[in-house]
Amino acid sequence: MLQATLRFAQTAYASTKRLFSNLFFEDALGVETNRPVALKDLGLAHSDRVDYDPSPWLALRRILPRNEVGPDDVFADFGCGKGRVLVQAAGYPFRRLIGIELSPELHAVAGANLDRSLPPARRADVELVNKDVLDYAIPDDITVAYFYNPFAGAIFANVIDRLAASVRSRPRALRIIYVNPVEEAAVLAAGAKLTREVRGLRPGKNWSLRKSIRMYTLAPPPC
Ligand SMILES: C[S@@+](CC[C@H](N)C(=O)[O-])C[C@H]1O[C@@H](n2cnc3c(N)ncnc32)[C@H](O)[C@@H]1O
Repeated sequence: MLQATLRFAQTAYASTKRLFSNLFFEDALGVETNRPVALKDLGLAHSDRVDYDPSPWLALRRILPRNEVGPDDVFADFGCGKGRVLVQAAGYPFRRLIGIELSPELHAVAGANLDRSLPPARRADVELVNKDVLDYAIPDDITVAYFYNPFAGAIFANVIDRLAASVRSRPRALRIIYVNPVEEAAVLAAGAKLTREVRGLRPGKNWSLRKSIRMYTLAPPPC
């Protein structure tokens, strides 16, 4: 009985959220980011790769206040999908923004979404890269790295190791934002410290935890 009530509450919550999202964000901005996409339907399935599912529209705003970003900051969404988070991040004063996405189809949708929702001058600050993250040379000026559980296992560990190496070779504070942080152990093992957490007000403790958003800071060791 309790399980059935919880399932009902979760379904009702998800439908209301989709309606709200369509009304206030998708339609208002002229974008399509809501529909999930399975990588197996695109011929890209792999046990460590995670399917496309968008971050909640307010995720970035909840974890990263606008006044904590300056004109020297650079944002990257690893596994940017249809570009929803980039649309949000473009409203912050980032110097430049990067979205790395494996799927050519999702990469193209992200481009169309950004073209429709950003003024041309701001659109020019966003670079979309259509690559497997394993083949992507991570720039060493990124200061905010965003992950909505895009990949796991060896792929995630590889990216975190390279980000940590980039902080050592070009010392700076790197903030890592991780939604549904299933591979948190790899982030902490790289020396990052948990600095903030927000949790969804979801019906059900496990669901709430799965949707939690955490921020970690990776900084070079003091000399
Ligand atoms: C959970 S979705 C997150 C989408 C977006 N970041 C957001 O928050 O709305 C994960 C995305 O990571 C992408 N992805 C999975 N493995 C990848 C890889 N090896 N390289 C680049 N992107 C990858 C998927 O195609 C998918 O679009």
